[in-house]
Order: sequence, then structure tokens, then C-alpha cells
Amino acid sequence: MIKRIAWTGLVLLSASATAADTPAGFMARYAQRAGVAVTTLSPSRGEALYRSEHPGRNGTAQSCAGCHTANPKQAGQTRVGKRIEPLAPAANPERFTDAAKVEKWFRRNCMDVLQRECSAQEKGDFISWLNQIK
Ligand code: HEC
Repeated sequence: MIKRIAWTGLVLLSASATAADTPAGFMARYAQRAGVAVTTLSPSRGEALYRSEHPGRNGTAQSCAGCHTANPKQAGQTRVGKRIEPLAPAANPERFTDAAKVEKWFRRNCMDVLQRECSAQEKGDFISWLNQIK
């Protein structure tokens, strides 16, 4: 009996975790963390974050587009030439479906490009832009 209740809880927990791990789910989560309505997330601010160039540690200009290319529906490349699958969900349905992966790469890439972490607002804006690309 107890075992069955525990199992049901586990199944429910994993089902709800999966349901939130969608682009729309991340937008809702980041908007909530930023204390704003999800409808106020800004695709144009997200695009600006993607394209803007920042001085990198070695002095050369860095941007998200630098690795992910000007068109996020295209495959990109790391600085050592390793292929990166497209970032836009329209071209790559695996994007924004795994919270651990999303957090890890936001942290790493924002530190890399901006030399700080991205805010919840920035992450929400970023996904709202990528998610409306057809
Ligand atoms: C030095 C190259 C590089 C730069 C610059 C870069 N990225 Fe990435 N990004 C990667 C790599 C490598 C991965 C992980 C490999 C993969 O998922 O295909 C990745 C994955 C991601 C993911 C994971 C998405 C998912 O659900 O799979 C996000 C979010 C992301 N990047 C955001 C950004 C943002 C925001 C910027 C700019 C602030 C940025 N990246 C700049 C290389 C880069």
C-alpha cells in the first residue's frame, strides 16, 4: 500500500517535471522568477541579447551568435570547430526540454559572453524570441 502511494507520487512528480520542461514552461518559470507576467517577455530584447557583441576576456568581440550563428535555425560551431545543433526549437525540438541542460548552458555561456550570469528576465526574453521563430 505505502509502496503503491510512493510510486504514484513518483509518477506524478516526474510527469509534472516533464510537462514544465518545454519552451513555454521555461518562459513561465523565468517570468515568475523575474516577477513579471509571461506576456511581457520581449522577443526583441531576447534577439538583442543574442546578437549584441561584448568584449571577451582576450579582447575579441563575443556574442551568442558567434557560436550559434546569425540564424539560430542553423547549426553552429564552438571555437574549436565542434558542431552545435540549432538553438531554435523550430529547427531542433530537443531545445528547452531539459532543465539541467538549460541552466548549465545559460550559466556557462552568459559567463563566457557577458562575464556574468543572465538574469531570469533575460533568459525569459531569450527563449520568447527563439520560440516564436517559425
Ligand atoms: C563558445 C560558444 C558559445 C557561445 C558564445 C554561446 N553558446 Fe550557447 N551553447 C554552446 C554549446 C557548445 C552548447 C551545448 C551544446 C548543444 O546543446 O548543442 C550551447 C547550448 C546553449 C543552450 C542550451 C539550450 C538547450 O535547451 O539545449 C542555451 C540556453 C544557450 N546555449 C544559450 C546561449 C546564450 C544566451 C548565449 C549568449 C549569451 C550563448 N549560448 C553563447 C556554445 C556557445
